[in-house]
Order: sequence, then structure tokens, then C-alpha cells
Amino acid sequence: MINEALLDWYDANARQMPWRITPADSVNGVLPDPYHIWLSEVMLQQTTVAAVIRYFLAFQRRWPDVHALARAGDADVMGEWAGLGYYARARNLLKCARIISTEHGGIFPDTEAELLRLPGVGPYTAAAIAAIAFDQQATVLDANVERVVARLYAVTDPLPDSKEILRGLAGRLTPPKRPGDYAQAVMDLGATICTQKPTCEICPIATNCLARKKGIAAELPKKRPKPAKPTRYGIAYLVQRSDGAILLETRPEKGLLGGMLALPTTDWAEADATEDTPLNAKWFTLTAPVKHTFTHFHLLLTVRTACVDMAAIPTRGQFEFPTAATPNKLPTVMRKVYSAGITAIGVE
Ligand code: ADE
Repeated sequence: MINEALLDWYDANARQMPWRITPADSVNGVLPDPYHIWLSEVMLQQTTVAAVIRYFLAFQRRWPDVHALARAGDADVMGEWAGLGYYARARNLLKCARIISTEHGGIFPDTEAELLRLPGVGPYTAAAIAAIAFDQQATVLDANVERVVARLYAVTDPLPDSKEILRGLAGRLTPPKRPGDYAQAVMDLGATICTQKPTCEICPIATNCLARKKGIAAELPKKRPKPAKPTRYGIAYLVQRSDGAILLETRPEKGLLGGMLALPTTDWAEADATEDTPLNAKWFTLTAPVKHTFTHFHLLLTVRTACVDMAAIPTRGQFEFPTAATPNKLPTVMRKVYSAGITAIGVE
């Protein structure tokens, strides 16, 4: 049986992660902390395990349970999330923590249907929490699982059209016994063996794999080509006051980088940006724009810097004294702007 072979493989090869329990504990009926599983799975949406680990540990240390997280200030949570990307996740994380804390007495629901009603919990995350935290027979379908299943059954239709076919096939494989370990086993297999360049020689289910039989494993899953990303343009302003304070602003809740601390910028437009300075000053422009790629577009930000005196009153944002920790509270694109701007001011 494919799922039994996968569980045996997992028992010997499970990756260690700070939110996981060992397969041995799991077999003995131990369940992991649902708060840990929820937090890790929200962080793992579109993000690798390697990138998530230090964020998970920081959150766990600062907010050890869901009540603690529910009491946290918005800016603190957004600041701790900075650098992980997809910031709507952090806003929903906090909303969800507050709902669990106040409406569910701090207890996470244990069915996919109830989990799906929570902010930031879609089909993938609901299935992952139900399976991993509560050992429910839920089928997890992420990119790793899609790859494993497409190869096992030699599904040559391209993604995303084939997603529902793959979901059906993945569902038939999900066992009633140890479904949580099984879900993690498939994800681990996809992350370590059934990768872009698969190492079929060491795969525990190679003999079941139709794509391997046909010699097409490495070509699957096929993907419909994505449209090319457009480029957007903007101007970012780094203002330093004579006492060393820097002008920062919290971006509006709605929209990209919503709720995040940032340097003031213009809107990001498909053509040239319209100047939108946060105060009157003598501006210097850096020769090299800052480049950053988001999911749906590339961004080119021209960076202007200015040094102003204590009388300067900005039209938006607030002056804050930077510390060594300041860049860590900024999203990645803003770290790039900050670092480029500060370096320029330093050498002027
Ligand atoms: N990717 C997302 N969630 C995961 C998990 N629980 N185990 C392994 N890889 C994952």
C-alpha cells in the first residue's frame, strides 16, 4: 500500500520542525499543540520551511499561546512578521487569534468545515490543521503534494486546470489511520525526494510511480505558462531629520504591504510615478533604483533622500529614531530602500 510505505518512510525520516511532534509520540496518541500547527501552517503558505523556522520561534517566544497573541498590538505583530511576505496573512493571523481567544475560549475547532470559517484559513490550511493537529482524515494539497500525486498517477494535464483531479487522487490515498503523519509524510517526500529533480532511486514508493515507469517523472507536473510580470514604478522618500530621526509611515490596511511600517512612497504606477513628497525639502536622487519582485509584478523604486531641520513638518508619517532593529520591522522592499538611502546619506 502506498500510504503504508509512506508512513514507514516517515517513521524513519520525518524532518524535525519546532512545531512538530515525533512520529513515535504520534503513534502513542500524542497530538501537537493546535496553536503551533495553525501558526506554522499560516506561515508556510507560499513560504519554505527554512524561511519560516526563525519566525515561528520568534512568535512562539513572544506570544506563547493564542490568548497572548490575541492581546498583542497590531504594529508589534506586523513588525515581527516583516520580511516573511504576503502581509495579509499577518493581519488575518491576528484577527483569527482574537476570534479564537474571545469566541472559542482559546480552543481551535477540529473540523475542516469550522476551520474554514476562520480568517486566513483556506482549504489548504484547514486540511493541514485538521489532519496534523487533530488527526482527522483530511487531505492536504500543496505544491509538494501536487507534484507527488501528478507523478504517481502520471497526470499530464497542466496545473492549475488539473488541480481538482489531483485533489481527488490525493484524497483516495489519505488513510483513516494516522492521517496527520501521512499528510506530513507526503509533504516531506515532495520537499526532499520527489523534488523538481527527483531522486527516484531512494524513493519509498518508486515502484508505484507511473511517471517513473514512463520515464517522465522529472517533467511533471506540467504547468500552464504564467503571464509575464509587468513592471511598476514608484518613488520612495528617505527623510532624515537633524536629530537623526527618520520619517516612517504605517501603510493603509488595504492594499499591498497593508498595515506595514514603511518609508513614504508614491503610488506604484505602470508608467512613470507622480511625485508625492511627504514634505518640502532639497531632494537628492540615487542613481540606482531599488528593484523588488512581488507575486504579480516587478517594482522599480527611485529613491530620493533629504536631510531636514527640526522645524520640518511632514504631510504624512511620523519621525522615529532608528535603531539596529528598525530594518527588521520593515518589509523586504523597504529594507532595500532604507539600506540604499541610509548608505547614500552617510556618504553625502
Ligand atoms: N509545508 C507546509 N506544511 C508542512 C508540513 N506540516 N510539513 C512539511 N512541509 C510542509
